[in-house]
Amino acid sequence: MGLAACADHETQNHNSADFPEFEELVAVIHPTEGSEVNGVVRFIPYPDGIRVIAEVHGLDPNSAHGFHIHEFGDCTAPDALSAGGHFDPHDKPHAGPDDEERHAGDMGNIITDENGSGEVDYVDNVISFTGFDSILGRGVVVHEGEDDLESQPVGDAGARLGCGVIGVAQI
Ligand code: CU
Ligand code: ZN
Repeated sequence: MGLAACADHETQNHNSADFPEFEELVAVIHPTEGSEVNGVVRFIPYPDGIRVIAEVHGLDPNSAHGFHIHEFGDCTAPDALSAGGHFDPHDKPHAGPDDEERHAGDMGNIITDENGSGEVDYVDNVISFTGFDSILGRGVVVHEGEDDLESQPVGDAGARLGCGVIGVAQI
């Protein structure tokens, strides 16, 4: 928060219509049972959307892996099925991050290098930090297989190898 926001906080009671504006959200990806997938996903507001910067390790080399925001920030199940389906607050079809009609959680694929590590860096203009569409507290899931960006409802991306919860980052 900037100085003005801090001063405001000290002098006024926020009402329920005020949503905090976070400078950055972060999800730490932990492996599901039998997996070694780990990583960090950062979400940073940009003028035209939210920049998504991810680094994930422990995947198969030279391959594509579905990468989504899921409805629940609940990675308790050994297979991460507790994270639910794709985050989809507007009842849209499954698609890819560049499609106009898509689940809010559709972030496409992570492509890995020869070491099984992959990075993502793009600006997403659907996801949000606030209100009904807020990704705060939702889950991020990395899959075993490739998201084909069209099969319903989840792109046929297979098992969940990594799962993390989107929280407020300390920056
Ligand atoms: Cu997924
Ligand atoms: Zn989807």
